[in-house]
Amino acid sequence: MARKKIALIGGGMIGGTLAHLIGVKELGDVVLFDIVEGMPQGKSLDIAESLPVEGTDAQLKGTNEYVDIRGADVVIVTAGVPRKPGMSRDDLLEVNLKVMEQVGAGIKKYAPDAFVICITNPLDAMVWALNQITGLPRHMTVGMAGVLDSARFRYFLAEEFDVSVEDVTAFVLGGHGDTMVPLTRYTTVAGIPLPDLIKMHWITHERLGEIVQRTRDGGAEIVGLLKSGSAYYAPAASAVAMAESYLKDKKRVLPCAAYLNGEYGVKGLYVGVPVVISAKGVERVIEIDLTSGERADFMRSVESVQGLVDACKRIAPGLG
Ligand code: APR
Repeated sequence: MARKKIALIGGGMIGGTLAHLIGVKELGDVVLFDIVEGMPQGKSLDIAESLPVEGTDAQLKGTNEYVDIRGADVVIVTAGVPRKPGMSRDDLLEVNLKVMEQVGAGIKKYAPDAFVICITNPLDAMVWALNQITGLPRHMTVGMAGVLDSARFRYFLAEEFDVSVEDVTAFVLGGHGDTMVPLTRYTTVAGIPLPDLIKMHWITHERLGEIVQRTRDGGAEIVGLLKSGSAYYAPAASAVAMAESYLKDKKRVLPCAAYLNGEYGVKGLYVGVPVVISAKGVERVIEIDLTSGERADFMRSVESVQGLVDACKRIAPGLG
């Protein structure tokens, strides 16, 4: 069987890390596209030269031509500009929307059957815009946010409890980062929900609140430390988990920005919810009952996503 083809649009920090992870995990052949000449070619060659040491096989090709993504099974989009200290993800909207117009045209022309994962920020709006531009089926376009937000939450909780990250599962809903809604009653250590862990005196309510806030600000914390650019290792790992579930038909249950068509009372927006990713793309959205407090937080998050989508429509009325 021929290898799968994975096209990465954007060969910057996340794009390069994605290419490396995909090569090491032997998920398929990689096409790394960027508008900067030489850079995707150089990164691809460097990664390809690391694979004999890793003992894995994959072809890597750097390119500045969209034609090279032809027939890709998966496309992961990181093209655009990242945040600088003091910037919010939303500050990136106008410039990255223009980038999505170019990227979307390339995907529509050369990879219309691909499963498309968007990472570019502001995520919940960019994935919506990309889907409008490509016109691809909604269940074949998805945004990476929840896997990253929940990974950060899991890491902080594992550190707090001094247990393996493997045994911490987290459940998050809503938009990326600032408006993320962690569902503590569905966040567990080996199946024990956080409210029970509070009763068991593993953590106080206040301390948990601090960890939730640190998770929401997780991206900004990294931006502040790096001073130029934003997080890339954890975002790349998160998108690779989503791509792997699609390519291997794993049917993993992952929180992703998925198109809602009435689920959770929301229509026509991409919002972070738990979904099953199979070889069919987003096979189903998992809808759970929310408490009134959770619903209020979720709706606040939806409103902020709606605000960003409205801003996209003002800048590019054709997207409608
Ligand atoms: N088409 C293709 N690539 C583009 C375009 C374009 N129109 N415009 C910019 N790029 C490329 C840049 O040349 C750069 O190599 O996108 C790449 C982005 O890489 P970085 O600047 O290193 O940013 P990165 O850290 O990878 O983040 C990318 O993901 O998490 C989000 O907020 C982040 O929106 C940002 C994106």
